Amino acid sequence: MAERQASADDPQAAGGAQEGSPDANGRASVLFVGDIVGGIGRRTLLDSLPVLRERYEPTFVIANGENVAGGLGITPKLADELIAAGIDVITLGNHTYHRREVYAYLDAQPRILRPVNFLRSQPGHGACTVERDGVRLGVVSVSGNLYLRAGRSAFTEIESALGELGAAAHIVVDMHAEATSEKVAMGWHLDGRVTAVVGTHTHVPTADARVLPGGTAYITDVGMTGPRGGVIGVKREQAIESLLTQMPVRFETSQEDPWLMAVLIRCSRPLRADSIEQVLMPRPPAQEGTG
Ligand code: FE2
Repeated sequence: MAERQASADDPQAAGGAQEGSPDANGRASVLFVGDIVGGIGRRTLLDSLPVLRERYEPTFVIANGENVAGGLGITPKLADELIAAGIDVITLGNHTYHRREVYAYLDAQPRILRPVNFLRSQPGHGACTVERDGVRLGVVSVSGNLYLRAGRSAFTEIESALGELGAAAHIVVDMHAEATSEKVAMGWHLDGRVTAVVGTHTHVPTADARVLPGGTAYITDVGMTGPRGGVIGVKREQAIESLLTQMPVRFETSQEDPWLMAVLIRCSRPLRADSIEQVLMPRPPAQEGTG
């Protein structure tokens, strides 16, 4: 089953209805948080959420969580923690199946998405809808095919996913891909048909956020929520040693200089974005030292 439905009124959605309520004409805002890396990324997100809610009043919050468990994969406990904090939908990517204990959870929890173009036989689903105040948001996770292992084509499977999604005031697509060319192409491919196409996976925010001519907000990569002091999340001395020696090195998540990286998409009509704004901020200082 490609699509699952969840209501914001679910007991699991402890975040509850937020400020800035959307209306039936599609007025809404979506905060999309880039790849959460390890415990430091998770704590940065949790510490930043109150600030972000006050500053931007997002209707919906989506986060990519495929690196949240020690840098690789996600566990049911960590996913539940994010959902309890008010994350409406968690998207994943190439590290989806790193933790075996999450397999059954991926089938059972509507709000967590693995790429829709993985094999149908693989656990989980790739699209869902969530609803707040009568406005329905569709979210689709899709993986690039260049340099990543996805069993089916991103460009053909996204068509099926959108067809199965049903009516939604807004649709956000997380294009989890290595190659910028694939992400740019997906943005153009879906321009005018979805509210936003946001790229994830490379952990480095790109400077190309814009609303395409057809009304779809686009960015090649949102960036990561994690330590800027490392190499895309890994302790920099370990990454450099690996590159210098060409020998196996055990990677650990850096703890240095944690930042939250996200985009805020504002909308005033269905399936179109008015704006896309990058949100790049260090972990709130008052919270530093708490873990
Ligand atoms: Fe990834």
